[in-house]
Amino acid sequence: MPQPSAQADGAARILSGLLEARTGQILSEGRAWRMETALRPVLRTHGLQNIDELAASLSSKRDVRLERDVVNALLNNESSFFRDPQIFTMIQRQILPRIQAERSDHVLRIWSAGCSTGQEAYSLAIHLRKHADQWKDWRIEILATDISTAAIDQAREGIFSQMDVQRGLPIGDLLDWFEPHGEDWRANAELRRMIDFRQDNLFDAKAPSGTYDLVMCRNVLLYFTPQRRQTVLHLLARHSHAHSALLLGAGETVIGNGDDFTAHPEFRGAYVRQAQPPAGHAGAFRRAG
Ligand SMILES: C[S@@+](CC[C@H](N)C(=O)[O-])C[C@H]1O[C@@H](n2cnc3c(N)ncnc32)[C@H](O)[C@@H]1O
Repeated sequence: MPQPSAQADGAARILSGLLEARTGQILSEGRAWRMETALRPVLRTHGLQNIDELAASLSSKRDVRLERDVVNALLNNESSFFRDPQIFTMIQRQILPRIQAERSDHVLRIWSAGCSTGQEAYSLAIHLRKHADQWKDWRIEILATDISTAAIDQAREGIFSQMDVQRGLPIGDLLDWFEPHGEDWRANAELRRMIDFRQDNLFDAKAPSGTYDLVMCRNVLLYFTPQRRQTVLHLLARHSHAHSALLLGAGETVIGNGDDFTAHPEFRGAYVRQAQPPAGHAGAFRRAG
């Protein structure tokens, strides 16, 4: 394997430093290796020859557009519809019925934190629309946030490539809830209207308000330092009530990351806020939202 030159190494450090400063994400070795490829479109757009020139440009003056494009390009936006199907089965069979039984005010609030291009939120919206008869007198709010402006723009547009829709989306759902859009597919207006997509940083969160019955923050914590994971879990706890279910990614856990959450006593792999509400807790279950 060729060794990167000291100069390229310096450039990589500047670029990964920018990513960490803006998002808290640490570039894994695998992603650092693919940095040049990920940044190729940015180099082209900004008329730069290579990542050394890019790093030099970033160091010489503040260029908000360039910084934003670099951060967007380096973030890992990997997502798919109904990712980890057993999680969605649990949501459908256990978590949502429980919320339905308990929320006497008939308000369902879901937050997809780190939603990337929106597949997670759209998967939930599809399920809820398919069972619209069960939710007909409910107010349903789905907030989906991500730091990446590019990912949120795509999510809001609801446009997915053929490859995206082939990953996890059953063909029946594709035909029922999406429309052809050139060579791509677009979520129909009814589905798009169900989700409030907002660009937001988990370390300076402005979008969430009140508490959510279901909080999904999946495959986001992985690239944070343990201390940053605690900070994010603390934020999620502030926007959870005593009965909220928190779902993390398959390789993520609250264990060793503070004491805001504990394993859910009934829903395997889910978490619930610790009994003692953290400082600044946003409200009790019945008054949630
Ligand atoms: C690997 S994707 C996971 C998408 C989706 N949750 C899933 O599991 O399919 C991680 C997402 O977290 C977002 N992210 C990273 N740091 C963030 C931050 N500080 N605030 C908000 N979102 C962030 C990234 O932009 C990316 O879209």
